[in-house]
Formats: sequence, structure tokens, C-alpha cells
Amino acid sequence: MIENKRQKMDENEIRITVEAHPNIALIKYWGKKSETEMTPLNDSISLAIDIFHAKTTLTARRVEEGEESVDTVSINGREITLNTRFNRVFKSVRDRLDSSWSFSISSSTNFPVAAGLASSAAGFAAIAFALGKAFDLSQTDIERLARYGSGSASRSGLPGLVQWKKGDEKEESSVLSHFPSSHWPDLRLVILVVKDEEKSISSKEGMERTARTSELLQDRIRRNPARIQGIIDSFASRDFSTLAELTMRDSNEFHAVCLDSYPPIQYLNTTSWSIINLVHSFNKESVRAAYTFDAGPNACIFTLKEYMDEFVSLVHSSFSIGDSIEKELRSVHISTLGDGPKV
Ligand code: DP6
Repeated sequence: MIENKRQKMDENEIRITVEAHPNIALIKYWGKKSETEMTPLNDSISLAIDIFHAKTTLTARRVEEGEESVDTVSINGREITLNTRFNRVFKSVRDRLDSSWSFSISSSTNFPVAAGLASSAAGFAAIAFALGKAFDLSQTDIERLARYGSGSASRSGLPGLVQWKKGDEKEESSVLSHFPSSHWPDLRLVILVVKDEEKSISSKEGMERTARTSELLQDRIRRNPARIQGIIDSFASRDFSTLAELTMRDSNEFHAVCLDSYPPIQYLNTTSWSIINLVHSFNKESVRAAYTFDAGPNACIFTLKEYMDEFVSLVHSSFSIGDSIEKELRSVHISTLGDGPKV
């Protein structure tokens, strides 16, 4: 969900506050076709996590002639040094405007600091949306801005089940929402934050290595269109077991191509593996839960409302929750699917 909170405008200053949710991919993006255009090698498809959001205030100020525009970004109260991605987003907006503006971003997230939950997706989606609203940009421009910040951020700009299409020579990479979140009100997400102090390889670096060195990646790319269609069809008919199996297989395959990269990339730890085994034992009679892991050890579990209490009790009886015990869960969060944009 993206929500427009406030807008104050005069000729020389625009201020707007928005919120965007992180999203979790059921079929994951891994590998770039173009590093400059931030286009992917394969389509991906995701759902937004309703309980988490990045809340972002953009203040845009018109710059006097001859004055340099200076942009600033602070995240959770700390000013950060602008990297090439932020600079690219701001430059891309400035190139579209007929007078010069400087941008100041202040963003805060309500997810646990250690969660490692695609905060860049929510953050850049919020920045792109705020810039889009402030300067009346098209949906295509907003998508592109989000993508320039972080590929997966383009999926946080729309509600419900969102596909990011890789595009081709004729068609630009784009996102579309197939169903609103209300299509499947009983679907639940359980986020298991795994205790982990290791610093992992960034998505950017990991993708580059995989694209350069993994032969298995070609197989994954070949399978991608059928998997995407399978997710769309199973979501359409609320066929949980098919959706769940496709999601788990894609997560496993994504981590397999990471291991097939050279040198190998390991994102899952022993607790992640305990979660995988726990879900498969929970699914012994019928498929009632599905795990998926991004570029880190934390799990996102999809389940249905009717199974959620049993699953969460199982988690609590299988793991210690808290900060004191190594290799156990740090926290557990339960969410419904993210809503659509509100302006
Ligand atoms: C494993 O969008 O963070 O979460 O485009 O380089 O910023 P950049 O990467 P990013 O990668 C996300 C990878 C993933 C899968 C996914 O969300 O589709």
C-alpha cells in the first residue's frame, strides 16, 4: 500500500508525506539485463506486507539561478551519504523539470532494525511515489524512478499481486497488479526474523556474481514464464497448495543458483534450514504453509487464516524467541496482504 499523507505546496516549496510497504517475491528477481536501466533477466511476482511500511517525507525546494542543488536523505533519524542510486533517482527527476529543485528526504521504517526485510524496496517506492505526486509524473516515470533506486522497489508501487515484467527491445520493463489484496483476504504472512550477525553479500553484488558465473541460472530463466503463470493462475483460483509449492520451489531454486555461483553465495543459515524442515513437517498431510527466503536468512511464511494459529504455536514450541540465544528467532510478525495505493 502507498498512502498519501499530506501535501503542502507553494511556488518554491513542496512537501509531501507518503507510506509504502515492503514486498516479498513469490517468484524472485535475480540478475540484471542492464545495470544502467536496472532491468531484470527474469520476471518476478510479489505481495506487499501490510504491517510494515516506510514513511517518507519529501521536501522539494526550488533552487535560485546559479545556486547548486544539494540533496539530503535521512533514514530513521540518521543522515546518509548519497550513493549513485539516490543520485540517479534525483537526477532523473531534475532532468524532467524545467527549473532546478533540491530534494530532502526523511524516511522512517516501522520494521525491526535487524529484519533485513527489503527496506530499500519500501524506501525507494515511497521516494518515487512522493516525487511522482509532487511533480505530477506518469505511472511509468514513477516505476522507473523506483527501479533506479532498487529493482524490487518497482513492485512496491502497486497493490496486491504485482508482476514486474522484464520487457524486451520493444517494450520497457514494467509492473502490473493482477489482483487487489482483497482477492484473497484469508492469506496470511508470518515473518520469522532469524538471529544472524553475519554480514551477507548485497543483492547487487550477489546478482552480478550469479549472472557472471552460474550455468544453472539459464535453466531458472527458462522456467520463469511458466512459474509466473502458475502463480497468477493459483492466486486467481485461490489454490493454496499450488501457490505454496511454486513459491517454495522458486525460493529453493533461487538459493540453489546462489550456491551454483562461483565463489558460492550462502544466504540461508542453520535456523533457515530448521524453518524449511518445520514447514515440510507441518505440510505432511496437506500443504498448509509455504516458506520463501530473500537474500538473507529470514523467512516469510505464507499460510491461510485457518492454519495460522497452529503454525505460529508450532514456531513458538520449536524455537526460542528473543535476543539472548544464538541461532534462534529474533521475532515473529503476522500480516495480511498490503492494500492498494491511496491518494
Ligand atoms: C532476493 O531489488 O534489492 O529480494 O535491484 O540491486 O537493488 P537491486 O536488488 P534488490 O533485489 C531483490 C532480490 C530478492 C528477490 C526479489 O525481491 O525479487
